[in-house]
Amino acid sequence: MRSAKDFFRPLAVGAPAPVREVPFRPSRMIHFFDPGNEKMAAKVPSIAPQVDVLLGNLEDAIQADRKEAARNGLVKIAQATEFGDTQLWTRINSLDSPWALDDLVTLVTEIGDKLDVIMVPKVEGAEDIHYVDRLLAQLEAKAGVTRPILVHAILETATGVANVEEIAGASPRMQGISLGPADLAASRRMKTTRVGGGHPGYLVREDPSTSDADAPRATFQQDLWHYTIARMVDACAAHGILPYYGPFGDIRDTLACEDQFRNAFLLGCVGAWSLHPVQIAIAKKVFSPSPADVAWARKVIDAMGDGTGAVMIDGKMQDDATYKQCLVVSELADTLAARDPELAEAYAAAEKE
Ligand code: GLV
Ligand code: MG
Repeated sequence: MRSAKDFFRPLAVGAPAPVREVPFRPSRMIHFFDPGNEKMAAKVPSIAPQVDVLLGNLEDAIQADRKEAARNGLVKIAQATEFGDTQLWTRINSLDSPWALDDLVTLVTEIGDKLDVIMVPKVEGAEDIHYVDRLLAQLEAKAGVTRPILVHAILETATGVANVEEIAGASPRMQGISLGPADLAASRRMKTTRVGGGHPGYLVREDPSTSDADAPRATFQQDLWHYTIARMVDACAAHGILPYYGPFGDIRDTLACEDQFRNAFLLGCVGAWSLHPVQIAIAKKVFSPSPADVAWARKVIDAMGDGTGAVMIDGKMQDDATYKQCLVVSELADTLAARDPELAEAYAAAEKE
């Protein structure tokens, strides 16, 4: 048994006190880069101001013989770069690999004061988060880190999905969860070889015509990820942490990427990964509420006064529930606009129309 009071005690003497609320900082795109790749590393200072989150990737996509170069590269880049209000995250190697322990020890002791969030891949249950939680507290205390480093889990195994609620609530350090559709597809033995997105074979078909059984019948592609994203969103919302769509691997198919990101946004996700600079603008567009939606939300909020009762606006019924829906949109817009002057201008202009 663990007393509720102990949940907010540091897990090591001298470690910073855990957070009680996950700070909501814009994180529309988590932009991945390989810190061991000198060409990519050289671009970090120019990319950082364009993104909400910059993530030094140490896990998949980094070859086994380049793991140390990537880890050391991230230390060098973090020490040399001022990130302003852009967050710095890392994705460490999975806990069943020979590199995860050294990733945590090196990164927290060398650049713990610069790291906002550590993304842990292939999380299967609360025990994985507990392992990282205690270790981080010990390392923070050792390194003199004064604010807790938060933890983000990737949902990418069937066991992880079965345990998603306990993962989301495993520690006050939990910042959020991302869907990892590639590993998850493999773990579930799904038969798609794509990284996210739909599949032409996963569809529903229109009923046959009653007058001509041979007439062509329309088909509609379905979303392979709907169930998992919705479940992840509920687990995150229940525990006050943030849900994200993960990677979309077909870099050239910017339209389908935008659709996949938008589905996630509409279902409650706050951001997605960008694997290539072309996906930065897509995420920015999709995960910022549109100026028209923000103007509408503010119109409803103004008309509803203290939020009780009911009013009709343009023939649509508004009450306590729609007022709350509108607050979600309006508050998100305020937070994003505070960091994005172009967006602030677009929201202000739409309100005047
Ligand atoms: C991401 O890591 C994925 O497996 O999709
Ligand atoms: Mg993965």
